[in-house]
Order: sequence, then C-alpha cells, then structure tokens
Amino acid sequence: MTQTLTEMAVEVLTTADAREKCRLSRAQAARWFAAREAGETLPVGTASPPDRPARPDRPELLDPRDVPKRKPGSPEGRAALLHAVAHIELNAVDLHWDLVARFGHVPMPAGFHDDWVRAADEESKHFGLVADCLEAQGSHYGALPAHAGMWRAAEDTADDLIGRLAVVPMVLEARGLDVTPQMIGIFRKSGDAGAVAALETIYAEEVGHVAYGSKWFNFLCGRGDLDPKPVFHDLVRRYFHGALKPPFNEEKRAEAGIPPDFYWPLAGNN
Ligand SMILES: [Fe+2]
Ligand SMILES: [Fe+2]
Repeated sequence: MTQTLTEMAVEVLTTADAREKCRLSRAQAARWFAAREAGETLPVGTASPPDRPARPDRPELLDPRDVPKRKPGSPEGRAALLHAVAHIELNAVDLHWDLVARFGHVPMPAGFHDDWVRAADEESKHFGLVADCLEAQGSHYGALPAHAGMWRAAEDTADDLIGRLAVVPMVLEARGLDVTPQMIGIFRKSGDAGAVAALETIYAEEVGHVAYGSKWFNFLCGRGDLDPKPVFHDLVRRYFHGALKPPFNEEKRAEAGIPPDFYWPLAGNN
C-alpha cells in the first residue's frame, strides 16, 4: 500500500537520531515531489503525530533560563551560537512535518502540502549545513545543552491550523529574518567562511517559509471571510507568550508578505 503523506510525516517525527531524521525527511520530500512531477499526488491521509517528536539523547534540553549565556566575540560563543542554530533547524524540521501530519484532515489545495514539504526539506538541509560547520570545528550537535521550550508553539496550536500559521512561520520564522543578518556579520568578522555560507543559504530560504505562512494564513482567512489583520493580532496574543522584538527586518518581512501593521502593534516598547 502506498504510504500517505501524513504517514511519511509521522515516520520523520518518530525518528530520534538528528542526521537520520534529516536524511529521511529529505527522502520523503523527494518521493512527494517525484510523484507530483509524474502527475500523481500522493494521498495525504490522516495519521496521529506524537505529542512531542522523537529526539536524540543529546543535547540535554534545559529551561532557557538555565542555558549558559555566551559571548559571541569568543570562539566558544560562536560555537554555542551555531549549536543553537542547529537546534532551531532540527526543531523546524519537526515543526513542518508536524503541521503536515496534524492537519491532514483539513482540506487544502495540493500546493499547501508542496510548500510545507519543501520547507521541511530545506530545514533538513539547513540542519546538515550547520551540523557540518560544528563538526569542522571539532564539535557536534549535542555537545552543548539546548533550549527545552521550542515545542511549546506546536503544543499550543495543536488544534488550530490558522493559529499554527500565525505563530510558527509568521512570528518565529519571521524573527529569524530579523536576527540572521547580524549573525552572518559575526561569522564574517571571525573569518568563518563555512558558517557564513550556511547562514546565507538559511537566510535566503527562510524568506520562502515565512511567505508560505502568510500565503496560507491569508488563504484560510479568505475561506472563512475573516479580516486577516485583527485575526493575526488575536491569534498571536493568544498563542505567543510575550511581545515581538524590534528591530524588524521590514524589507524581508515585506518580501514574505507580512505588512508592518501586522507586527508593529504587537511589539514591545512602543
Ligand atoms: Fe531553516
Ligand atoms: Fe524555516
């Protein structure tokens, strides 16, 4: 029997080893797109994703308050920064497959699944790029502790597709657009060409993920005859804990289809 897309997603979510999770994720994406190109869309089906995705024993997951602070000016600080990025990318692999698996029952155009499968594929590549950088420095993913709280957005929006889109791509991934240029600057200054190249690939492709979020958020608002801006504000206030942090990357946010009146009213200190 053909595996459905949601079953493929659950297989990724229940794979613990980080490299193996990413390898499988890329293979599933290749299967989905090979079928699409052959003119046959694989069935989406429905499946039960785990409450929390399987993860390796290392890194140790700590409350964000207990993760040691790092100075980006030092080699240790830069290694910690790359480690944190690897953790974010691995979490993003699971977030996109979880979205596919958890909301398989919501009828959506095939392009919706194309977008999130592509995003998951790109996150898997991003994890590999950053894990390679860590290994080139004699470290590895799992060598340092990482934030425990990253799955909270998925748990909070487990029953709400439009809420998931508002919080994950349109808030969390959009935040990545705000902070990545400065991070690239840190590695450029230290002469780490490998990290610069990895982060530049991530930066370029993350714009697409945020754009997928705003595209399908607006689609669902339109389907429900809802006004997108107040809906976005309500959902972010309900599911996102805290204010959005300026400065915002207004240029890349605009490129991803998020106008300033979506995020400025949610910003702290204004
Ligand atoms: Fe990414
Ligand atoms: Fe992403």
